[in-house]
Amino acid sequence: MIYPIVKFGDPVLEKSAVEVTTFDDELKKLIEDMFESMYAARGVGLAAPQIGISKRIAVVDVTFKEDPDAKMVLINPVITHKEGRQRSTEGCLSIPEFREDVTRAKIVTVRAQNLNGKFFEHTGEDLLARAFLHETDHLNGKLYISHVSALKRDLIKRKIKKLVKAGEW
Ligand code: NI
Repeated sequence: MIYPIVKFGDPVLEKSAVEVTTFDDELKKLIEDMFESMYAARGVGLAAPQIGISKRIAVVDVTFKEDPDAKMVLINPVITHKEGRQRSTEGCLSIPEFREDVTRAKIVTVRAQNLNGKFFEHTGEDLLARAFLHETDHLNGKLYISHVSALKRDLIKRKIKKLVKAGEW
């Protein structure tokens, strides 16, 4: 099932999501739906709050279907190590049509559970590192625009307000 993507302005995007404690078939189905929804929206990462479900789950595929092994499920993820710096343009499915340069760590290690509840650690570089940080931020109610200057952030918010008024958001 493809869920519609929740857009900036919905409070679910700005609150801390709830830890997952039950690893059952319902969770597996939700994760399947999250991948389906992410691909349908042409994204390389999706956090559960972005489909209106405030749980600590994210899916990532920085290859966008090219490498089946690149599909990652992060349940209750925590960033355990950050190293270096990278600066690149970043966007978010919940803030469509906007992109901004964001400085992030270049190498990032995440500790999370898989869909069976098993803990694992994974280290990613470049885009994968960025995805780990961006998606983990989502689960803490934080959006990438919190990492840009206040000036740029206010500009984006003003533009969104106009779009909302025009019924285009
Ligand atoms: Ni996002």
